[in-house]
Amino acid sequence: MDRGDGTRCVHAGLPPEAPGGPVPAQPVLAAQYHLADDPAADFYGRAGNPTWRALESAIGGLDGGECLVYPSGMAAVSALLRTVVAPGETVVVPTDGYYLARRYAHEHLPATVREVPTTATSWDFTGARLVLVETPSNPGLDVCDITAVVAAARAAGALVAVDNTTPTPLGQRPLELGADFVVASDTKALAGHSDVVLGHVSTASAEWAERLRAERSTSGAVPGPFETWLALRGLGTLDLRLARQAENAAALHDALRGHPKVRGLRWPGAADDPAHAVAVRQMRRFGGVLAVDLGSVEAAEAFVGRAELVTSATSFGGLHTTADRRARWGDAVPPGLLRVSCGCEDADDLVADVLAALG
Ligand SMILES: Cc1ncc(COP(=O)(O)O)c(C=O)c1O
Repeated sequence: MDRGDGTRCVHAGLPPEAPGGPVPAQPVLAAQYHLADDPAADFYGRAGNPTWRALESAIGGLDGGECLVYPSGMAAVSALLRTVVAPGETVVVPTDGYYLARRYAHEHLPATVREVPTTATSWDFTGARLVLVETPSNPGLDVCDITAVVAAARAAGALVAVDNTTPTPLGQRPLELGADFVVASDTKALAGHSDVVLGHVSTASAEWAERLRAERSTSGAVPGPFETWLALRGLGTLDLRLARQAENAAALHDALRGHPKVRGLRWPGAADDPAHAVAVRQMRRFGGVLAVDLGSVEAAEAFVGRAELVTSATSFGGLHTTADRRARWGDAVPPGLLRVSCGCEDADDLVADVLAALG
């Protein structure tokens, strides 16, 4: 029987029961190991580590594939791109997803880079080797139909990777929808406490997992075991945190819909959001990130300055509610648009604070 999300998160990556042994997973920080005849035994910290394997089995179990952890979300994205896309091939990236994925592809891949918006209504991937989509996209929170993207990519002979950072494996399972790869920044909700930078790639293909693992060992883009352990520790409460964050996002959306100071509002969980119909078909839950346009830089900055429970910070998915004016980083969004990441505060407190800060 399939167990629920909470049970799976709490039990993911636990060590086998042993009398006198620790109940929770423990970090193994070793660079050197006693050498053994068994080729599967650990021998050097760049090639393998028990704490990586604990987190990889935990995330892989939730994603529905084999997982490899990386020292950041960008390390995961870049490792995937340089492993899958050969020089001279074509990669498709979203115009409106995380800007550094686009920048890495343009500046560091010896490949042709094509950009497609997440809101495209038809897809033509002729000539592409890999299609990278991010859904929901951030900061715009548009959604694309993963099944339709996979069908179009298959028709063109291309592989599909989905950046699943915003939903996490509890919110969306792209491998079950036919994608070849999931890539994510676990710095965000998966680790969830804003104290670790980490990322992962998951794939249902044992062959691709092996190629990625070989590339990781050789390139040396390996995560620190302590950070890996922090993420595993955080993952245990992912179900609880996402539930509270989504509850807060729904409450904030209700409070802000039609508010005279709010010029634009997006959250795929809202029944009247343009992304809702597709989101409902492919997402298991909607998370706690909203896009709120306050109309101008001044209004956005005054709001963040007045709010007591909303901290001005980039990144998202953490315990604390944060807001980030994304135009500051060059995203093609209105200057007063805030990406608001709901934390785990009480909904009533958060709504009262936000309404007071809006004035
Ligand atoms: C959707 C998305 N993908 C990838 C990344 C990169 O992750 P990291 O900051 O962990 O390198 C981010 C970071 O904000 C992101 O939002």
